Amino acid sequence: MENILSVKQIKKSFGGVHALKGVDLTIKKGETHCLAGENGCGKSTIIKVISGFYKPDGGTIEIDGKNYPVMTPAEAIKAGVQVIYQDFSIFPNLTVIENLAFNQVLANKKKLVNRKEFRRIAEEAVSKINFDVDLDALVETLPVADKQLIAISRALLDNAKLIIMDEPTTALTKKEVSRLFEIIDQLKKNGVTILFVSHKLDEVFEISDSITIMRSGENVISCPTSEMTEEKFTYYMTGRHFDANDTEKTQRTIGKPVLEVNGFSAPGFEDINFTLHAGEILGVTGQLGSGRTELSLALSGLLKPTGGSMRLEGKEVSFSSASKAQKAGISLVPEDRLTEGLFLPQSIVDNITVTRLDDLGTAAGYVNHEKVLNESASWVKEIGVATKDHTFPVSTLSGGNQQKVVLARALATHPKVLILNGPTVGVDIGAKYDIHNLLKQLASEGVAIIVVSDDTAEVIATCDRALIMQNGRITGELGKEELTAQNLAAAAG
Ligand SMILES: Nc1ncnc2c1ncn2[C@@H]1O[C@H](COP(=O)(O)OP(=O)(O)OP(=O)(O)O)[C@@H](O)[C@H]1O
Ligand SMILES: [Mg+2]
Repeated sequence: MENILSVKQIKKSFGGVHALKGVDLTIKKGETHCLAGENGCGKSTIIKVISGFYKPDGGTIEIDGKNYPVMTPAEAIKAGVQVIYQDFSIFPNLTVIENLAFNQVLANKKKLVNRKEFRRIAEEAVSKINFDVDLDALVETLPVADKQLIAISRALLDNAKLIIMDEPTTALTKKEVSRLFEIIDQLKKNGVTILFVSHKLDEVFEISDSITIMRSGENVISCPTSEMTEEKFTYYMTGRHFDANDTEKTQRTIGKPVLEVNGFSAPGFEDINFTLHAGEILGVTGQLGSGRTELSLALSGLLKPTGGSMRLEGKEVSFSSASKAQKAGISLVPEDRLTEGLFLPQSIVDNITVTRLDDLGTAAGYVNHEKVLNESASWVKEIGVATKDHTFPVSTLSGGNQQKVVLARALATHPKVLILNGPTVGVDIGAKYDIHNLLKQLASEGVAIIVVSDDTAEVIATCDRALIMQNGRITGELGKEELTAQNLAAAAG
């Protein structure tokens, strides 16, 4: 089979950071190729080199047999390369039609806007992937999964031969992932090649024909997926061996009740009752739309409750903002690092300590810089944020490392109750294992923890018990001994 892409010895540095140290990547026409590796190993960087977004310091790029001494974004698109980024680069305040037809009209330099023509182009685009969507809807009103499909439809309009998807399943539910995989299969049948970045083992094995693994800016291995095992995959990625059956639960003493929730309601859920104890890790699981995210927001002051009560260490509380909840001892690690909570141009230090500036200030009211630096340095180390310097802007970190900063920031508030919504979304296998251990350690120090997650393995590995939510209500509870993949699947309905 011919190659659609062959890049050789690609090098790229940012200041003193050698992100790519001579990377090779070869993709055959018509295959689905997975690119994997730990957070910060250079996956997004190589993609940006291929798509002409970064100029490499060295190496060669060949697409469909043609050599590109200088690759620009326009050349890449002409060569048939399309990247579906995580933010999808679509315009939220335009309609589906406008988003789809925009490029075409620009490309054809049509001065007059022809509504009929717009609609025809848009219809053609969505029909290519059998995507059923209201073309007149504003994109901002659509679910994430639909935005992604709009980006894919648009890529096809540009005659994409190679579609690159950087962590496309991060924000999708299981159902949406299956729909995406069906579409990938269909694209493949139509001769489109897919390069797919994912941290999720089961997905990689389900969807890919071949795999390339990178570590620290270098190639580790490239081979057909059929020659790879999960164990080998994890080892090549991390250089570490993990006990796959590590569901061992450290014996912790469950302490006094810390958070008691009674008849708690807000838009998205109602009549929620539970008691969370010191040293306990409570799972909250359910499909998207089950109310799990809204519950985490209401508990941490980001969504106004409409009924019921919350008691923190015996005292009735209600919070009008996240910072008030934080002061009282409840911290949230939100689900979506890209839109909730990080100040990308600001330094890692500032992002971690932003919620603590009050405490760290001196009597005179100004911030004790040394203290801020020391404290954030210790969190950067504890959580394993990969960076040369914690005064670098957060925007220079890889996606998974940005997620770790969100976690570090919540921990820096020394919460009594720590609520994590999707604590390991976007982080690699090794970091996931480390974060799970950190949560267990925090619990053994007495922190009361809520893990909101639809990752069954995560709930089993970390939680002492789990509440199952459906349609805004708790519909089941599984104790420690009952926490198995089978029971969780059965309870979720
Ligand atoms: N603009 C930049 N300035 C400085 N360093 C950068 C920049 N972009 C990337 N880096 C660094 O290059 C390395 C590779 O980053 P990259 O984003 O390619 O990782 P990744 O493999 O995509 O990781 P993840 O799985 O977390 O998304 C990281 O060390 C990152 O901090
Ligand atoms: Mg990345």
